[in-house]
Amino acid sequence: MRIAMASDHGGFALKEGLKSYLTGEGHEIVDLGTDSEDSTDYPIYGEKCAEYVVSGKAEKGIVLCGTGIGISIAANKVKGARCALCASEILAELAANHNDANLIALGGRTTSLEDAVKYTKKWLATAFDGGERHVRRVKMLTEM
Ligand code: RB5
Repeated sequence: MRIAMASDHGGFALKEGLKSYLTGEGHEIVDLGTDSEDSTDYPIYGEKCAEYVVSGKAEKGIVLCGTGIGISIAANKVKGARCALCASEILAELAANHNDANLIALGGRTTSLEDAVKYTKKWLATAFDGGERHVRRVKMLTEM
């Protein structure tokens, strides 16, 4: 799968680790930055990654900052983005199953690489439920 990734400095190390894992699993990763731990601004990267996904250049996106909070807020400003901050496997599963999340956010200072891999695997492996109520709610989000 073609997956876009972006982070600020707080998510940089986890982005690099997760990128290596996903590349090893055969995914095509588009790295939209940042490229170091030098201080930068998460809104730039949340917006960039969400626009990349919503425009169809990648199937899914993963955004990372220190907590995952700021960059998820930024990603969700882009119309059509459904970015879920994942801090457990059940959240990752339901983000896909109920919300059809096209992006997830992870916290580089709050989530180990081992857990980030677990959440990402669960999100990628879980299909959207597709039931009428979920389709209706996702459509409502898209139309906001
Ligand atoms: C940057 O220091 C930090 O505020 C940022 O990475 C993120 O945690 C914001 O939500």
